[in-house]
Amino acid sequence: MAEVTVQPLKNGPLLVKGPIQLLDAQGKPMTVPQGQPIALCRCGHSANKPFCDGSHQKAGFQG
Ligand code: FES
Repeated sequence: MAEVTVQPLKNGPLLVKGPIQLLDAQGKPMTVPQGQPIALCRCGHSANKPFCDGSHQKAGFQG
């Protein structure tokens, strides 16, 4: 079984590596790129939630 890691990046998103299934608020699977890390927003400013769109930088997110 492949390892899944979730790493909070300084002042940025959660970086998720490994095979995951991402579900929306209704529990339906979302399309995610296979074999590539994904970045999940943790600042609340992304216009493309749950994914990071880089807005944390403009918002000055610290975490
Ligand atoms: S963490 Fe990047 S837009 Fe929220």
